[in-house]
Amino acid sequence: MGKLEAKNVEKFFEHDGKPLKALGGVNLTVEDGEFICVVGPSGCGKSTFLRILAGLEKPDGGEILLDGKKLDDTGPDRIMVFQEGALFPWLTVKDNVEYGLKIAGIPKEERNDISKRYLDMMQLTQFANSYTYQLSTGMKQRVAIARALVMDPDVLLMDEPFAALDTQTRDLLLVEMQLIWQKTKKTIIFVTHNVPEAAVLGSRVAVFSHRPSIVKKILDINYKRPRVSEDENLIEYQQKILSELRPEVGGN
Ligand SMILES: Nc1ncnc2c1ncn2[C@@H]1O[C@H](COP(=O)(O)OP(=O)(O)OP(=O)(O)O)[C@@H](O)[C@H]1O
Ligand SMILES: [Mg+2]
Repeated sequence: MGKLEAKNVEKFFEHDGKPLKALGGVNLTVEDGEFICVVGPSGCGKSTFLRILAGLEKPDGGEILLDGKKLDDTGPDRIMVFQEGALFPWLTVKDNVEYGLKIAGIPKEERNDISKRYLDMMQLTQFANSYTYQLSTGMKQRVAIARALVMDPDVLLMDEPFAALDTQTRDLLLVEMQLIWQKTKKTIIFVTHNVPEAAVLGSRVAVFSHRPSIVKKILDINYKRPRVSEDENLIEYQQKILSELRPEVGGN
């Protein structure tokens, strides 16, 4: 039994008055403590799939099992980091990061200690008292990641969280993410457009087809960690991912 199992998951949307099948029967088993990346062409349904795993949307067919039980709601065991970090503009960086802890009733001092650690990790300490409109896109995204990590969820659902970051920050976070994962043994499902990023992060990489999407191929990346993006030994893995992905891009 996997930690999370998607069984024949289907999702339709309405487009121009007609049903558009986004997910065409996605099957994927994610093991407890696994770091899996999902790649696929734009618009194939990756974000939709993550939202279904988060319990934010219901599938139209099939089911999701979490620890063997049918999932039908959101829960503190799964935290999503969105493609565009959705932050509260009326709160400071620190208060954004501590928001979930506050809701969970964690005392102020403890909240302070936890947020301090993650603000440090994300190199945001200097901006702890800034408001989000005073931050760059990449900084906002780091706040969103910190906000998810402080909650210490079993499962982290990450939707292209590094897409808006500059290369240096991204490279730092690619290593940091692996260290966090090795330390905490969280189950991480990480969607990305970026093939080198998938090869650095994933223990497995699931390639989605174009719409209606299915898991076309799962590739194992058996290579030592922490990996860095400039490691030439990762190129052969990148090529394997690309050769699966390329025929899907440009599909309808
Ligand atoms: N709320 C919605 N209403 C109607 N159609 C939607 C909705 N959400 C997603 N779709 C459609 O479902 C398909 C999949 O969208 P989704 O955002 O999941 O793709 P994606 O793989 O995450 O793309 P990207 O890589 O560009 O982020 C697209 O065709 C999109 O137009
Ligand atoms: Mg998306």
